[in-house]
Amino acid sequence: MLKKIISFTLITFCFSIAYSQKKKSPTAPGIDEKVEALLQKMTLDEKIGQLNQYTGDWEATGPVTNSGNKLEDVKQGKIGSMLNVKGAKHTRALQEAAMQSRLKIPLLFGLDVIHGYRVTFPIPLAEAASWDLEAIEKSARIAGTEAAASGIHWTFAPMVDIARDPRWGRVMEGAGEDTYLGSLIAKARVKGFQGKGLGNLDAVMACAKHFAAYGAAIGGRDYNSVDMGLRTLWEVYLPPFKAAVDAGAATFMNSFNDINGIPATGNSYIQRDILKGKWGFKGFVVSDWGSIGEMIQHGYVKDNYEAAEVAINAGSDMDMESRSYINNLAKLVKEGKVKEEVINDAVRRILVKKFELGLFDDPYRFSNEQREKKTLNTPEFLEAARDVARKSIVLLKNEKQVLPLSKDLKSVALIGPLVKAEKDMQGFWSIDWGKEDHLVSLYEGMQNQAGKTRLLYAKGCEISDTSKAGFAEAVSTAQQADVVVMAMGEKYDMSGEAKSRANIHLPGNQEELIKAIQATGKPVVVLLMAGRPLVFNWTADNVPAIVYTWWLGSQAGNAIADVLYGNYNPSGKLPMTFPRSEGQIPIYYNYFNTGRPAKDDNDLNYRSGYIDMQKSPRYAFGYGLSYTTFEYGNLKLSDTNISGNKPVTVSFTLKNTGNVAGEEVAQLYLQDMVARPVRPVKELKDFKKVMLKPGESTTITFTIDKEKLSFYNENLEWITQPGEFKIMIGSSSDAVKLDGSFTLVD
Ligand code: BGC
Repeated sequence: MLKKIISFTLITFCFSIAYSQKKKSPTAPGIDEKVEALLQKMTLDEKIGQLNQYTGDWEATGPVTNSGNKLEDVKQGKIGSMLNVKGAKHTRALQEAAMQSRLKIPLLFGLDVIHGYRVTFPIPLAEAASWDLEAIEKSARIAGTEAAASGIHWTFAPMVDIARDPRWGRVMEGAGEDTYLGSLIAKARVKGFQGKGLGNLDAVMACAKHFAAYGAAIGGRDYNSVDMGLRTLWEVYLPPFKAAVDAGAATFMNSFNDINGIPATGNSYIQRDILKGKWGFKGFVVSDWGSIGEMIQHGYVKDNYEAAEVAINAGSDMDMESRSYINNLAKLVKEGKVKEEVINDAVRRILVKKFELGLFDDPYRFSNEQREKKTLNTPEFLEAARDVARKSIVLLKNEKQVLPLSKDLKSVALIGPLVKAEKDMQGFWSIDWGKEDHLVSLYEGMQNQAGKTRLLYAKGCEISDTSKAGFAEAVSTAQQADVVVMAMGEKYDMSGEAKSRANIHLPGNQEELIKAIQATGKPVVVLLMAGRPLVFNWTADNVPAIVYTWWLGSQAGNAIADVLYGNYNPSGKLPMTFPRSEGQIPIYYNYFNTGRPAKDDNDLNYRSGYIDMQKSPRYAFGYGLSYTTFEYGNLKLSDTNISGNKPVTVSFTLKNTGNVAGEEVAQLYLQDMVARPVRPVKELKDFKKVMLKPGESTTITFTIDKEKLSFYNENLEWITQPGEFKIMIGSSSDAVKLDGSFTLVD
């Protein structure tokens, strides 16, 4: 086959270290000079202090290295940043201590503002299901605005790790399995957090994490090793990080895992060659919690001294909570193992951000209690949270039109362990506000909209226990109602960091309870509230209506009631494939075809499948229903050949053929039919979310240029190859409604 390399070579395996490039930076005028002037005044110890980050005494998310007096360390300039300190009052008090240090270098305050600060938004995986980039950006914008008003300068978000394994608890923090969708969402979130730019009082620094490939932990077990070919790394796992750099992300966080035997924290190829070299990233890299010291457990270094040497030389600028830098860097410099210029480069990167944030002009500018009070938890922010929450909901099944519920129903039974849940619907990585916290439960949300309908309630069972003591009451409650709505799922700490599960079935005996209620013969709606794709085959086969609500945050109950009553027509589409069984994992839509593809689930004769289970997923990537129906037609291509730089445009009509207004996410997939190396059976290349009134139709156009046809070859060159490409347009990755093809001529 004629191969034509049209683009540049992405990887030069040069080990030249990017720290020496003191090139022109895009910083605001004068900042570089100010940084240099300050650097001149700093002792080596003061420089190392800037690279040191400790947790405050707020909420630890890892093992705390609790020795010494942190306040005293701040006064002596031994700490450059603190995490887990929040609130204008607390941040101000610590900043006052920093102002007692010799050079008065302000502290940076970082926090995991993952899905909201005071107002909790849906978990990121849920928001990804909205496929609504504007709403996602807005949610990050509000989170950033609230956090900045509360003294926070820096969020450890977005997490942009691609994840193809729902056993991994941290899937809840990301945008799911797809690189294209994930890259757009990474960009939207970075833009949202950083707003109009650092220096504005409502902007926080974003932090793209976890660099890199953390989502590919073997067996879905958190912190585990990653064994991955470089082509997959470049093609599937790195693009969302590149998108974050392009969107101006101020910082990166590295990851706990090793990649092919080299811990990411000590990985010069990842941090120096790719991030700071090839991509020209000018911000700084913080380690993950203790990950520098953890290289000892990895078996990569023998002690903290060696850990500090390896990490700083590999491009990890700031040490989060391992104390390796503060305890060892000075000696390493004196002994010539680390060049002072390496330290200077890391310090410069951090000081630039402190200047950009305006902290040298006024270290307290983010710590203003009045502004904090005015900004947090406003009705406008709560309304935005409700809006994105309902957009994140995915309707999986709706037979016999059980949904939407009629307002004329006499009674609805609300059954299940999550009907009155608050914290559990808020989800992992939400910020604890103690007594001030209020989350609209499903029960409350339903009360707000039920009108004359009587709401009955029975818990039925706990989330994960095995007792059936509550079943009888639940069944009798169901028998008294016209319709039953069941709230089932995971507890808030069943998905999240270190929350990997080998068994991702609905926990406890919840599915048994569903069977008992379904047996009453009443119309049943099952709501699934979870931080990951779950397995629930009996429910999927037998219950007429299933709604995946994920964990939706502060306005969960209102948003779900909006959907149940049809005040909002669901439009979410799954950002991850749902398996039928853990045995199918990893499972994702953009796989290679193999030499013996099964044509369907029954095609088992020496075919690639399972003899004891279908190979198809339970629900495919991109899947989600609406209360209305859509018709796709009239596919037109501007040309059947692409040559030169002229793109092909594909257009088609989309019509709302049902009785209510609704939104559809029309998806474009491509397949490169013959290529070396082989290409996936389909890849998402574009999508459009459109709202149509009943009977209304619109023309949707996608543009396909060579960039969309490019991929990495075995030498990691970004290329296209001439030949035939198949176009597939549909409502999900497994529901192709229109197809066609074109040829790339040169
Ligand atoms: C997590 C990070 C988080 C950090 C700080 C670590 O354990 O992996 O994602 O930002 O803690 O809380």
